[in-house]
Amino acid sequence: MDKRPIGFMDSGVGGLTAVKEALQQLPNESMVFLGDQARMPYGPRPPQEVQRFSLQIAHFLEMQDIKLLVIACNTATAAALPVLQETLPIPVVGVIKAGSEQAVRQSQTGHIGVIATEGTINSQAYSQAISSLAPRAHVIGLACPEFVMAVEQNAYQAPATKALVADKLAVFKRQPVDTLVMGCTHFPLLRPFISAAMGLEVALIDSGAETVATVKAILTANDQLNDGQEPVFHRFYTTGQPAQFETIAKAWLGSANLTATAISVAQ
Ligand code: SIN
Repeated sequence: MDKRPIGFMDSGVGGLTAVKEALQQLPNESMVFLGDQARMPYGPRPPQEVQRFSLQIAHFLEMQDIKLLVIACNTATAAALPVLQETLPIPVVGVIKAGSEQAVRQSQTGHIGVIATEGTINSQAYSQAISSLAPRAHVIGLACPEFVMAVEQNAYQAPATKALVADKLAVFKRQPVDTLVMGCTHFPLLRPFISAAMGLEVALIDSGAETVATVKAILTANDQLNDGQEPVFHRFYTTGQPAQFETIAKAWLGSANLTATAISVAQ
């Protein structure tokens, strides 16, 4: 048994989609979340820079005495998972493996779409992960960086965003897929719009939510699940504006009393 919190990191609010799932699956766990909103988006940044930022955030979370780190950001997973796994003395879990595994399980036709940031698409992390599991799969990647900004600007329910999503995903009408990986943790906030654009017959995979089962399995295997005998805590940090973070986090997590603290991690 281990009472220490689980750490979650993201470039912004997207990683809250993984936190939301963790609150369901791991209700006895304390959690610490850091969104690097001051430096988002990560998608257009070179991998080396994303790696540097990720190390800074991971070290901050390490100082919060976390027992496991979830890189709840696909761009950071693609750029920095191996280096964080080598550097930190605790388990570090990315979001690409679990999302790929679920996509392969789900797809009947082997035609799998991946929407993500340009950094994640350019890394080919999804196409490699999916191909290693299903060599005959046909992966169609599409960079949708505009979706990240719509979520961060709290416009994820706006009619203009619905139109943007429909326009962007129209490409899949010419290249049909039966499964679409939301390969950016921001995108599940747009799920109603993505689903409307793709059609109900297309399975949507939430990479962050899928990863929580992996986290649970690791903590179970290591005998590190919290027993819930004492009250748990959920702490939220942002490198940006706490008020902006809180607005989205309160609505998304359904937690009216949630507060966020501003911190700086840049050296
Ligand atoms: C971004 O900051 O560009 C989004 C990162 C991600 O969730 O992949």
